[in-house]
Amino acid sequence: MTDAEALKRDAAAKALTFVEDGMRLGLGTGSTAKHFVDLLAERVRGGLRVIGVPTSEVTRKQAESLGVPLTTLDETPELDLTIDGADEIDPDLNLIKGGGGALLREKIVAAASGRMIVIADQSKMVDALGRFPLPIEVNMFGLAATRRAIETVLAKAGCSGPISVRTKADGHVFVTDGGHMILDAACARIPDAAGLASRLHSVPGVVEHGLFIGLATFAIIASPGGAEIVG
Ligand code: 5RP
Repeated sequence: MTDAEALKRDAAAKALTFVEDGMRLGLGTGSTAKHFVDLLAERVRGGLRVIGVPTSEVTRKQAESLGVPLTTLDETPELDLTIDGADEIDPDLNLIKGGGGALLREKIVAAASGRMIVIADQSKMVDALGRFPLPIEVNMFGLAATRRAIETVLAKAGCSGPISVRTKADGHVFVTDGGHMILDAACARIPDAAGLASRLHSVPGVVEHGLFIGLATFAIIASPGGAEIVG
C-alpha cells in the first residue's frame, strides 16, 4: 500500500470507532470511503450489526460483495451516520465533493443522516474552496443553454475559469448513476461558497453541485502523525 493509501485507511479506521451496533449508515464513494467499507465489512463478519445505504453503484457492488447488509432511503429514510470522503475541506468544514461523480446520491444520503463524518488525508484541507474543479451535475437536455447560465452565475461569483464536460479515460462522456452529465468548473478560489451553492441551484438544468455546505459534522484528517478530528 502506498503512503497516501495508508493515510486514507488510517482515517477510515478512526471513523469506524464511531460506528455502533444497530446503526443505519450512509456509505460514501471514492478511494477513502472504499477503505471504510472494507474495514466495516471486517467488523460485520465479526458480528457487528449495521445496515448501509450506498452512495453509488460502485459502493453498492463493493458492499454487497463483502456481505455488508444494505437498504435504500425508501426503506430507511433516516440514517444515523454517513462516512464519506471529500475533494476539498475548508476550515468551516464546507466541502467540494463529486470527484468520483457520485455527488447527487452523496448529498441526498448526507442530508438524510444525523451526522456526517468526512474522512481524508491532509492534502484535502484548504484555506478556501475552489482549487479542485467544482463538479456540477446537469441534465443532458439543453446542455448548451444550461452551461451558458452556469457560466453567468460562476462569473458573478468570481469564477471565470474554463468549464469542461467530464469524460472517462476512454474519451466517452461520463454519465452519472442518475443518468446525467457532469460539468467541472475551474474556479481557483470561491470567495462565497454558500452564496454560489444557492445560486447554482436556481439554474434550470442543474441537478446538483459539489458544494456541501454545513453538512459535515466533523472531519477525520490523517497525516503521518496520526488521524485527528477536525471541527
Ligand atoms: C465521490 C467523492 C469522493 O468522496 C471524493 O472524490 C474523494 O475521493 P477520494 O477519497 O478517492 O479522494 O466525492 O463523488
